[in-house]
Amino acid sequence: MRKKIVAGNWKMNMTPSEAVALAETLKPLVATSEADVVFCVPAVDIVPVVNAVKGTNIEVGAENLYFEDKGAYTGEISADMILDAGAKYVVIGHSERREYFKETDEIVNKKVLKALEKGLTPILCCGESLTQREQGITIEWVRMQIKIALQGVSAEEAEKIVIAYEPIWAIGTGKTATTEQAQEVCGAIRVVLGEIYGCETAEKIRIQYGGSVNEGNAAELFAQPDIDGGLVGGASLKPGFGVIANA
Ligand code: 13P
Repeated sequence: MRKKIVAGNWKMNMTPSEAVALAETLKPLVATSEADVVFCVPAVDIVPVVNAVKGTNIEVGAENLYFEDKGAYTGEISADMILDAGAKYVVIGHSERREYFKETDEIVNKKVLKALEKGLTPILCCGESLTQREQGITIEWVRMQIKIALQGVSAEEAEKIVIAYEPIWAIGTGKTATTEQAQEVCGAIRVVLGEIYGCETAEKIRIQYGGSVNEGNAAELFAQPDIDGGLVGGASLKPGFGVIANA
């Protein structure tokens, strides 16, 4: 049985002091969750949020990393920095990074490999645009994203990865994929994982849905056979995240 995982992606929200206040608000609300609960926060918020959630069921994640160990890469943060700050997860290949910061599948692959090498758990994002969905290429597109992102990743390492299926047209739009649409693609992701690693490994890998997850739709989405939790944007910044984490 896969343990569910519900992660908040705070994106570029919350100053360090706001982040601590939000963590304090959410702490009691997610305390009863039977899922793994993760707050993925801006880099400067990692240390204060790690301190704020010490001794609770909450883990902290970064929203990005760079694939080199260290050096002259102004503005980037390394896996070692994230780990030393106390975070255990890292979001990789979010569609916003792909779109606004021109991250390619090859870059995403390098980041996944570095995170795994260092012992960070990647939350690897994939998902199609509205145009791609309308063109009928959603499954092919997502399969390709997964295949490239996992180049050189062994079955043993793949088991540790969390995959987040986030249709771009559903992110921040209030337009959630239907449970059937979300399950269809998450199921297809498990099929491609099975092709790469075999069924036994594919059955162990957790797949989240993301895109306008809220208090009202979380339970139904998370009840789908191939949906093992959610990656939540806007709704992770509000007390309602407690409801989602308990869904
Ligand atoms: P929303 O939940 O705001 O749609 O964002 C989803 C997302 O991008 C999580 O990574």
